[in-house]
Amino acid sequence: MGGKVTVVGAGFYGSTTALRLAEYNIFDTVVLTDIVEGKPEGLALDMNQSRSIEGFETKIIGATTTPEGAGYEATANSDVVVITAGLPRKPGMSRMDLIGVNAGIVRGVAENIAKHSPKAVIIVVSNPLDEMTALAQIATNFPKNRVMGQAGMLDTARFTNFVAEKLGVKVGSVKTLTLGSHGDTMVPVPSRCTVDGKALSDLLSQVEIDELVDRTRNGGAEVVALLKTGSAYYAPSAAAARMAKAVIEDSGAVMPVCAWVDGEYGISGVYLGVEAEIGREGIKKVVESKLTDSEVEALKAAAEAVRAKQADVQTL
Ligand code: NAI
Ligand code: 2OP
Repeated sequence: MGGKVTVVGAGFYGSTTALRLAEYNIFDTVVLTDIVEGKPEGLALDMNQSRSIEGFETKIIGATTTPEGAGYEATANSDVVVITAGLPRKPGMSRMDLIGVNAGIVRGVAENIAKHSPKAVIIVVSNPLDEMTALAQIATNFPKNRVMGQAGMLDTARFTNFVAEKLGVKVGSVKTLTLGSHGDTMVPVPSRCTVDGKALSDLLSQVEIDELVDRTRNGGAEVVALLKTGSAYYAPSAAAARMAKAVIEDSGAVMPVCAWVDGEYGISGVYLGVEAEIGREGIKKVVESKLTDSEVEALKAAAEAVRAKQADVQTL
């Protein structure tokens, strides 16, 4: 056990992530911050009081911060930082509708983190995800391997759940994969989906697979429409927490994440959802795997869509 992880933003995503990380019982400290005075301290107090029941020793520290950087001392020398600060969407909004306001928040947070934790690995979750990940790298000026975004783990988990429910099988028997952007150009990859080792295309018709792919692409919006205020956080926090765990354990686990792509699949110079090995240095390497021609084309289209937006964030 050892290491320090900071979760910035103590809203639904941040607080559930902090608790999951603490319950792993592998970190010395989980720091939870927010600009709402007292909120992170109150949540940390409550979480610490669950330790004897759940049986974990990790200490949770809550710290109120200001956008200008007061309070960031509590986060100093974190090994991993998860950035969840920012507005979630409301019904009818796309993730891209959040870009203006969240860019200001993420830029400020990233600059403060870079000042206090210059060696950290950053995991961005604020939306729009691919653009906020690119912005966090620009604002920290960290090496690109030390800044990644969470999206693919979540989108893949949603795809897996939908396949398992459709076929009435255990989620553990299903393997799926989702690449591309965390948005309209998400690329669920049916050719990599199996159930107990059998190809999905042997078990479902093309129409049925297309329905599951569409539902995966709209997975976030489906939850937002039901909740009406705010967006999903149980599955999203599970995804970000597993990424932080892989970093601190230097596990080399291969996960679909938003990573800097430099030549893989013939795509360069963009943050995009791909599979990558995760460890102490962040992205150890992007893993290129076999896709069908149409899946590669969809990935290239996703790269071009996010490339244009990622260029815009430089000025936000
Ligand atoms: P929320 O509204 O519950 O929490 C956001 C928190 O950020 C609030 O407590 C707010 O006070 C705080 N905050 C705002 N500015 C801050 C700053 N400068 N420093 C520190 N904290 C600040 O929203 P929720 O549900 O926690 O979502 C957070 C973000 O995560 C949203 O942008 C949402 O769209 C995104 N998201 C991303 C997903 C992904 O897969 N990448 C999935 C789900 C949500
Ligand atoms: C989600 O996919 C809104 O990005 C968020 O749930």
